[in-house]
Amino acid sequence: MSSVVVIGTQWGDEGKGKIVDFLAEQANVVVRYQGGNNAGHTVVVNGAEFKLHLLPSGILYSRKTCVVGNGVVIDPAVMLKELKSMQDKGIDTSGLKVSNRAHVIMPYHRLLDEVEEESRGDRKIGTTKRGIGPCYMDKNSRAGIRMVDLMDEEEFCEKLEYNLEAKNHLLKAVYGVEGFDYEQVKQEYLEYARQLKPYVTDTAAVLHAAIKNNEKVLFEGAQATLLDLDHGTYPYVTSSHPIAGGACIGAGVGPTQINKVIGVVKAYTTRVGEGPFPTELQDEIGQTIRERGHEYGTTTGRPRRCGWLDACVVRYAGYVSGIDYMAITRLDILDGLKTLKICTSYKYKGEILNEFPASLKVLAQVEPIYEELPGWDEPTSDIRKYEDLPLNARRYIERLSETSGIGIGIVSVGPGREQTIILENMF
Ligand code: IMP
Repeated sequence: MSSVVVIGTQWGDEGKGKIVDFLAEQANVVVRYQGGNNAGHTVVVNGAEFKLHLLPSGILYSRKTCVVGNGVVIDPAVMLKELKSMQDKGIDTSGLKVSNRAHVIMPYHRLLDEVEEESRGDRKIGTTKRGIGPCYMDKNSRAGIRMVDLMDEEEFCEKLEYNLEAKNHLLKAVYGVEGFDYEQVKQEYLEYARQLKPYVTDTAAVLHAAIKNNEKVLFEGAQATLLDLDHGTYPYVTSSHPIAGGACIGAGVGPTQINKVIGVVKAYTTRVGEGPFPTELQDEIGQTIRERGHEYGTTTGRPRRCGWLDACVVRYAGYVSGIDYMAITRLDILDGLKTLKICTSYKYKGEILNEFPASLKVLAQVEPIYEELPGWDEPTSDIRKYEDLPLNARRYIERLSETSGIGIGIVSVGPGREQTIILENMF
């Protein structure tokens, strides 16, 4: 048995898609376990760029089983569109398995995401407006519609009617907007059901069989630690559990069946949406990193806030997910910067904080304590061996490893599959 979970350690967009894609080559099964099409992975294969939002990155390889687990919320229109775009590029999508227990994003979830966000005013979260939060709300309030319901016309119609009555009332009475027509939504979704039916199954059973059969299973986290509903910078978080433990609930496997956890760390920090960000750079260096790293959202196109590497964040991510190794990405983006900084601790009201603060008021006021390290001039994107990296690049990475207490497993120096330096075998 060999199963590996890959998660983001920061606020998302660490380059998990590239690492997952790289590891997927060795895996038999690739699984998404939370989130929905709020995620965005850009993967480059032989110079061709693929943008994935909902399908597991493993879909780009033929003969892999790709699971969308019960913890994912599925917008059927998006899933079908993504499937079609893959099929148009000649990619075999027959290995896709979609959980019958996954919840379905409905049109009212998308509209509620928008109007609720608008009504928050200054307190807005900066959501992707894909209906993710409202869909998880329905799941938790036990009103949601699951794939298994969508596949059963009678069950679906009954749940849709009940939900539309409540949601249309809420939309009109609280937000003053028109709701949705039952017949129209019903017809639209029954057509999605017809097209998705071949993929829908009990994916926990699929995984159980794969693990029993000694297959290699790769769990692909979306979003990241600080966007986790429980462990992130609440309320500026997503509504699911991107941490490694989320894989157990979101895929239906036990903790004893996970062998290794890999935390993806971008060589600097970025964040989209609102919320405190202690190492944020609002100067020219931040701008340089944004432009060089094309730090604009894959899903929404929004410019990402950029800042120095924060080892306090990585250390925290390390223990809430039990990370074995880091996969450090985008090191090449820092080539040519004269000096680099790593935040190794936070000071608050004159005292060093030992733990990552739960209070956002505190996080917004902490003073990052930096260590300055010399940069490197040499380009790193063509380097394939760790010992060939410039000495200062290695020092930078090793200092992160020392201060976060997590070993280095992979270093990525560009978007291509070949631009990957391996220090530890993951499977
Ligand atoms: P939601 O997931 O659309 O509800 O958005 C909640 C928060 O998570 C917002 O700050 C989003 O910008 C952020 N978020 C959601 N998905 C991603 C992602 O894939 N990368 C980075 N941030 C994300």
